[in-house]
Amino acid sequence: MFPKNCWYVAAWDHEVRRLHPMRRILLGAPVVLYRASDGSPVALEDRCCHRHAQLSRGRVRGDVIECAYHGLRFAPDGACVHIPSQEQIPPSARVRSYPVAEKHHWIWIWPGDPALADEGRIPDFGVMDHPDWTWRGETLQVAGNAMLAIENLMDLSHLPALHRTTLADTAIPDNDIPVEYRVEDDTIRVDRWALDTPVPPYFRLLAGFAPDARVDRWMNTIFTPPAFVRIDIGAAEAGSGAREGDRSKAVTTWNLNAVTPETESRSHYFWAQAQDFAGDDPSLSELDFALVHTAFEEDLAVIAGQQENLDLDPAAPRLNLAADRAGIQARRMIERMARAEG
Ligand code: FES
Ligand SMILES: [Fe+2]
Repeated sequence: MFPKNCWYVAAWDHEVRRLHPMRRILLGAPVVLYRASDGSPVALEDRCCHRHAQLSRGRVRGDVIECAYHGLRFAPDGACVHIPSQEQIPPSARVRSYPVAEKHHWIWIWPGDPALADEGRIPDFGVMDHPDWTWRGETLQVAGNAMLAIENLMDLSHLPALHRTTLADTAIPDNDIPVEYRVEDDTIRVDRWALDTPVPPYFRLLAGFAPDARVDRWMNTIFTPPAFVRIDIGAAEAGSGAREGDRSKAVTTWNLNAVTPETESRSHYFWAQAQDFAGDDPSLSELDFALVHTAFEEDLAVIAGQQENLDLDPAAPRLNLAADRAGIQARRMIERMARAEG
């Protein structure tokens, strides 16, 4: 269901190490990730072309990885460069090598046609490289299809019901200012604003607003296909012009998400929470991360349950509500890309 000719996140930079090859199933394919002697990431098919042993069980020697079973060695381009039991290396002795890139603290993989891989198409998660921002992230395993995780992030109307004890009060109800949807340059934007409202406990806790403060606040979602959701969440002194673009009296936190399909019924979920106000106090960054992490565990439990029901009857009808609009658009965009690849 997901397109192949695009970048996906394969791992956090710190997860991929030089001498400890890591196995990860990405878009249904086994991949081994390690670093060559110059530190550059390598992604190879994690299935030895000899008898299908997992190369990730082997060892890295210089730039090459040696299969633990009969000792065949493979270079970063996937070519077999050594067979202990014979001199001759047949041309079919190779495993697939994937284009990889390291950017914004993530290791990116291109599962499609290598000739089309263009690093310029990696979406912008530059907040994680910016010195004025603090952040913390992690990898979660989702027992559900990646589309369920994307739908979850695209429909924030679930906040009050599911996240009663964590993020419920950050929800922006669909009342005075209508939710604004825009599709631009292959991205979907959903902007939610509330003006001159009491400051919710989330921002009081994190950013020290007075208990009786009034704020303008927002929760603006940007979806970039196939699987990236960035949510700009913030609050500003009421009337200070945040909606018009003046953030000098505002605090902002970005919720950054990259979902990578593992199989049809499982996915990897790479996410981080970044703040522009926690520079002097790392505990605020930790607190923000912890709040969102707790909420995400609630999401993952629901998604696992959805997947269980999907497996029992994939064709069971689904009711669509107004709040599903952005999720439906995202799904269509992803399906269109996959269809275009044939
Ligand atoms: S299975 Fe890898 S060398 Fe035999
Ligand atoms: Fe959620």
